[in-house]
Amino acid sequence: MSNPSLEILPWWKTTTVYQIYPRSFKDSTGDGIGDIPGIISKLDYLQDLGVGTIWFSPFFSSPQADHGYDVSDYRRIAPEYGTMLDCERLIHEIHNRGMHVVLDMVLNHTSNQHPWFLESRSSRESPKRDWYIWRDGRRSRGRKPPNNWKAVVGGSGWHYDEQTDQWYWAQFLPFQPDLNYRNSEVKQEMFDIVRFWLNKGVDGFRLDIINAIYEDEALRDNPFVLKLFPSEEYEKSFFQNRIHTVNHSDNFAFVKELRSVMDEYSDPERFLVGEVAASLETLKRYCGEEINTNQTNGLHLTFLFQSLDADFDAHTFRNLISRYEQYFAEPYSPTWVFSNHDQMRRISRLRNDVDKAKLNVTLQLTVRGVPYIYYGEEIGMPNHRLPLKTAQDPVALKYSWIPQFLVNLLTRSGSVLLNRDDCRTPMQWNSSPNAGFCSEESEPWLPVEPRYETINVDYEESQPNSLLHCYKSLLRLRRQMPALHSGSLHLINLFLHKKSILSFERKYDKQVVQIWLNFSDRPIQIEEIQGRAELIFSTRREPTPLNNTGIHLEPFQGIILETHHD
Ligand code: NOJ
Repeated sequence: MSNPSLEILPWWKTTTVYQIYPRSFKDSTGDGIGDIPGIISKLDYLQDLGVGTIWFSPFFSSPQADHGYDVSDYRRIAPEYGTMLDCERLIHEIHNRGMHVVLDMVLNHTSNQHPWFLESRSSRESPKRDWYIWRDGRRSRGRKPPNNWKAVVGGSGWHYDEQTDQWYWAQFLPFQPDLNYRNSEVKQEMFDIVRFWLNKGVDGFRLDIINAIYEDEALRDNPFVLKLFPSEEYEKSFFQNRIHTVNHSDNFAFVKELRSVMDEYSDPERFLVGEVAASLETLKRYCGEEINTNQTNGLHLTFLFQSLDADFDAHTFRNLISRYEQYFAEPYSPTWVFSNHDQMRRISRLRNDVDKAKLNVTLQLTVRGVPYIYYGEEIGMPNHRLPLKTAQDPVALKYSWIPQFLVNLLTRSGSVLLNRDDCRTPMQWNSSPNAGFCSEESEPWLPVEPRYETINVDYEESQPNSLLHCYKSLLRLRRQMPALHSGSLHLINLFLHKKSILSFERKYDKQVVQIWLNFSDRPIQIEEIQGRAELIFSTRREPTPLNNTGIHLEPFQGIILETHHD
């Protein structure tokens, strides 16, 4: 099906990415906020875990109103995280361990405290006025925004500024004004910032809301639609189909230009992964066209958020895999993401069931595509339900008027996460107070999840059957076996147990592995194994009976077999 050429794929397709939210990983100074020296002290852990690439949520200068997604200087490091020297050391230490570094590039907007915006808002004549999107309001009946466009987070995305009697546009929150990419100076400046970091040696960028770069120039209203909550796939939410504000056609040419900046750097090859919520068809458009057998000319990867809230059953995943294979065959590649800093952690969606989490990660690390692991996912850190009223998350504060019982109901149903603090609590390193995230005397910026005494790195290291060891074994296999990181994928057609079992084969040259996943709470005997099979991984420690007549799978057990056809 895919990769028929038998080439080992480029590093960014065979890697596994680990996302660090710097504020929450490791505090080295005692202020209760994670920092770069803290991260450096944990690089050996990440190397031992076996991930290949580390992506950092932003640590650039910022008033931290959205914890770094509101940048006030893209060429400096926020003092609470460290210095530029620390950052250079971080890049160096990661490379020294044979891993790669990905930074989070927030191109769509800056902080309203960025000197560019301060200058832009100062007068209509300012040389930076056109760096942001300023428009006159409508005045027919009182003061009104230029049109009906809503922000991603709800409410009008237009904000009135008295000083110059105009409105500025912000896709996200009011303190994150959008840059105007129709102004060529803006584009050049932002591309130079990208080069600045590439020159420092970073290996790639995660692109924040890259589907929001351009809006309709004529400012046409978005049409009404009967849908309140956003889904991961579509642009419809808050009763608006945002056709004029997200996934605008000019975005697709923009990402190609950005790609050519990345292509100025070839040794090693660098990569882009875009944060885009859209249908698979649109996502593929962001990756560009196939320009030769192993290259496209747009983003190297986009997140496929379809998996975030996928139902936990064989049918759902079989469908997802087959759709991904259809849209993202080589030279395209899917991505597999189950948690991040905006979403409910996967294990919380799985009701904290560790067997299910093991099955889930067996799928994630054996299927074709690039896996993204969110810090703490490897130890099964759950969401910590925290009150909206005292939230640090600005989106939660915007909605803090919603009664808590309603928030709990929505959160429990898994449909929305209103307080993103819930998934951003401190990394749990050990069972000491504050879970080893910061000193016992300090107060962490968010409270530690109360179950940290048994859900932490040290404890799970000591338990051979832990989720952490399951991740390590799978990551080792994925690194070692070309079939798992570069092989083709074929779904195995089952006659029996179709509802309960998902099975697929990965193949690279003569190496063939089969993955068998039991999504049901019943034990199942499988008879369909052909050839000689060797068990090379199981989510359970007890040996799985394997003989000529087949294999026995316990409830929610996953296994990997290497098959030999002689
Ligand atoms: C998407 C990021 O993932 C989110 O955390 C951030 O708040 C918004 N973009 C705004 O930058």
